[in-house]
Amino acid sequence: MSMDDGLSPSIPPALMVVVRVGDFMITLSIIKADTGGFVGHSAVHPDMMAAAHHAVDRAVRSELLIDGHVASCGDDVSLIMTHRYGVDSELIHSFAWDTFQTTTGVARELGLYGAGQDLLSDAFSGNLRGMGPGYAELEFDERPSEPVVCFLADKTEPGAWNYPLYKMFADPFNTAGLVIDAKMHAGFVFEVYDLFEEKWICFDCPAELYDMLMYIGAPARYVVHSVHSKTLGETAAATSTQRLSLIAGKYVGKDDPVMIVRAQSGLPALGEVLEPFAFPFTVGGSMRGSHHAPFMPVSVGHAHPARFDGPPRVVALGFQIHDGRLVGPRDLFADPSFDEARHQANLAMDYLRRHGPFEPHRLPLEDLEYTTMPQIQARIANRWTPLPSPPVPATAGRPASAGAAKS
Ligand code: F6R
Ligand code: MG
Ligand code: MG
Repeated sequence: MSMDDGLSPSIPPALMVVVRVGDFMITLSIIKADTGGFVGHSAVHPDMMAAAHHAVDRAVRSELLIDGHVASCGDDVSLIMTHRYGVDSELIHSFAWDTFQTTTGVARELGLYGAGQDLLSDAFSGNLRGMGPGYAELEFDERPSEPVVCFLADKTEPGAWNYPLYKMFADPFNTAGLVIDAKMHAGFVFEVYDLFEEKWICFDCPAELYDMLMYIGAPARYVVHSVHSKTLGETAAATSTQRLSLIAGKYVGKDDPVMIVRAQSGLPALGEVLEPFAFPFTVGGSMRGSHHAPFMPVSVGHAHPARFDGPPRVVALGFQIHDGRLVGPRDLFADPSFDEARHQANLAMDYLRRHGPFEPHRLPLEDLEYTTMPQIQARIANRWTPLPSPPVPATAGRPASAGAAKS
């Protein structure tokens, strides 16, 4: 951020020292991991939550963190933290890594399922990238009032955020502000990652909307990483983009992504941020991470996938950030206006389940690449025999005119 961001050029230099923007920059980090399930892959044990709370409280007291909140969705623990160390900070990432070691220890003691599942490395090495835990981080200059929503998901993949981010920041049928609010009219820039080839691109929307949809409509590979307001010059949203299977080279559990969205005052209003989830769109995940199933918006108390390890769940925790403190959360999907989405999700689950192992319930073969699929392919490879060549037509060898139809 430049020196004069947020300051009028007429402010005398002496005063500029006092109100330097950099002093107010804060980072909101959500770092999450599945370190053991209670029961199976359905939830986090209360003792693990208590251990994570304890670690976060200590980190706040020692002033590593400004504030922290521990939450869970399914079998994933999320550490929601504010601090002044910026994104990708070694201090913050190593704190999260140590905390997940502690919750793994609790899971081992209780014999919980898949203890330490997402900790793919033996030792921490400076940054969580490629080590298993997922994270979404946003550094910003706190506005006079700073509403944010932390979304946590279970039993799905990072591309699950593509559809709602498109709706929030690019679809006027979802977000009235794109038409009505002068600060939103110019649109938003979407940063998109290609997870297979590890490269990224920016799409300037609405001008490049149709190009972007060609990519983000394929969420197993192309994932929206962040969204930026063209008018405010602010980052409005950030997601976790790690794909565990691409890190580990095999299926080790679904990624269960998280997302931060800032709201209001030239960004989508809170109701526009939540609106995409009124439709339970399908996502990849659910049983064995290998099925399409509806994404069900739920309260924290219902964030425990049950039927067919699903339907995949999403919770929305709303905070007001004030001087870096997390005022909240409000459990935003604990509201009757999302009852119909839950009902539709159950109907969609019935419909999809009846397909059993057939697509489109089961994911297409290319998305099963990191499951048992390659082993089956290898085992029966030599039993596949080329189809016989087509028989030679009876007319072969006769003069061309002999068999010609009369016209
Ligand atoms: C999906 C998920 C679960 C497991 C399933 C089998 O992300 O974690 O659906 O894949 O319960 O688990 P294992 O192989 O551990 O018995
Ligand atoms: Mg698990
Ligand atoms: Mg999980």
